[in-house]
Amino acid sequence: MTAALEVRNLYAGYGKTTVIRDLNLSVPEGSTVALLGPNGAGKTSTLGAITGSVKVTSGAIVMGNTNITRLSTYDRAKRGIALIPEGRGIFPGLTVGENLQIAADSAQGVDASWKREQMNRVEEMFPPVRERAKQRCGSLSGGEQQMVAMSRAFLSNPKVLLMDEISVGLAPMIVELLYQAVARLKQDGTTIVLVEQYLTYALKFADICYVMGKGTVNFVGEPGELQGEAAGASYL
Ligand SMILES: Nc1ncnc2c1ncn2[C@@H]1O[C@H](COP(=O)(O)OP(=O)(O)OP(=O)(O)O)[C@@H](O)[C@H]1O
Ligand SMILES: [Mg+2]
Repeated sequence: MTAALEVRNLYAGYGKTTVIRDLNLSVPEGSTVALLGPNGAGKTSTLGAITGSVKVTSGAIVMGNTNITRLSTYDRAKRGIALIPEGRGIFPGLTVGENLQIAADSAQGVDASWKREQMNRVEEMFPPVRERAKQRCGSLSGGEQQMVAMSRAFLSNPKVLLMDEISVGLAPMIVELLYQAVARLKQDGTTIVLVEQYLTYALKFADICYVMGKGTVNFVGEPGELQGEAAGASYL
């Protein structure tokens, strides 16, 4: 199977500090890959290296057949790398409607009718997105903000969607709703990299799990294998 995204022998970090060491990751087209590991393992930094916000010192990041390691964050986004960052990444001073419009405007390779269809879809999935279209995002609840962040992901038509702990700090009911949306993205064939603290969701949705520790990958396997392997791991 073709890999939609591949990370090869990656070293990356901040200033002179290397936090990612010899990391390898392969994300097959249409699959969901979970990136797990304790606090400080380097999950967010890995996503940052993929989007271009964290400096890569050696190794390669390849999308399909294209080496994107030296491309700007903007150029990577144009090629379909989208991130729902820790802390949601929406514009708090803009309204819900404006936040969604920006995502729709940035979508590549789709026409106006596709955008309308996706907009109907997110409004149906997340009623607050419709009800609060004119409200500033900064005044929404945490769960509502995450719904806007998920809606933006739908509207931007990503090739590879990176999600960094979308469930953090949210009530179980909201998390359930967000994961229904993840399930639909998966059904649509979106390639997903999921960083998640709740193992239940990671194991349910992932086709492959990567477990990181101290900046590198310590275990790769299917969810079933991980359950056995990691039974004694303290963070799980
Ligand atoms: N901006 C930064 N400057 C310097 N070091 C950083 C920076 N951001 C993260 N680090 C360091 O990089 C390492 C990996 O952090 P990272 O945020 O990638 O971990 P994580 O696996 O996402 O953790 P968490 O589960 O807590 O979100 C940590 O040791 C952290 O202190
Ligand atoms: Mg993190």
